[in-house]
Amino acid sequence: MKKIIIANWKMNPGTLIEAKELFDSLKEISREFRETEIIICAPFVWLENFSSQGGLKRGLSLGGQNCHWESHGAFTGEISASMLADLKAGYVIIGHSERRQYLGENDLIINAKIKAALKAKIKPIVCVGERQNEEMHLVVEDQIRSALNGIPAAQLKEIVIAYEPVWAIGPGDPCSPDNALSANLFIKKVLTKLYNRAGAEKTAIVYGGSVDRKNAADYLSRSQMAGLLIGGASLDAQEFGEIIKSVGNI
Ligand code: PGA
Repeated sequence: MKKIIIANWKMNPGTLIEAKELFDSLKEISREFRETEIIICAPFVWLENFSSQGGLKRGLSLGGQNCHWESHGAFTGEISASMLADLKAGYVIIGHSERRQYLGENDLIINAKIKAALKAKIKPIVCVGERQNEEMHLVVEDQIRSALNGIPAAQLKEIVIAYEPVWAIGPGDPCSPDNALSANLFIKKVLTKLYNRAGAEKTAIVYGGSVDRKNAADYLSRSQMAGLLIGGASLDAQEFGEIIKSVGNI
């Protein structure tokens, strides 16, 4: 499996000019590392700017950060998965903890959004993870069960699961590679229980939360993750480049 490095820009940077500059730098970096799939999840209003004029190359894809569960309709302010597909997004982040916390996303909504993304042929990047003082096993199993409810085994290969312990996101404490390894193995166990071993092996599991140039390689080698979901460090082209370099030969 190709390594998957996902940049989650969140609601950043401030202007289109800065966004274009950042995208161009990341595009340069992706040219050197073809064995890595770099996915830029930027605010959707900019996706067309990036995909036009041959902006996308092999190994470089675009993603959204959210989609609605319906394909169209009276949902003011929302965007559907098929609209993202029209903008050449190949992926969409679903169920990020910030949306669960600030925008009322619950497990039912997340499940419906995953189904909508799959229907639009966009790969969902499904975020799961416990908050401070919560038990990882209980929370993560519950979140995965609800997220994948009604999704057939054949579609597992289209899904990325991002383990993001909420306490490790942003300025939080990074998760130790050993903890991330336990979570990875546990998620595989849950998928095996819900589906089968082959299905579990086809699902890409990535780590997110305070990833930087110093710890990135460990999450791939020691934690055996298929990739990384990077927030803050993806807004700094130099730091992001160092991360890609550090995982380049794993
Ligand atoms: P961070 O964010 O890398 O800034 O911790 C990760 C995320 O929220 O996806």
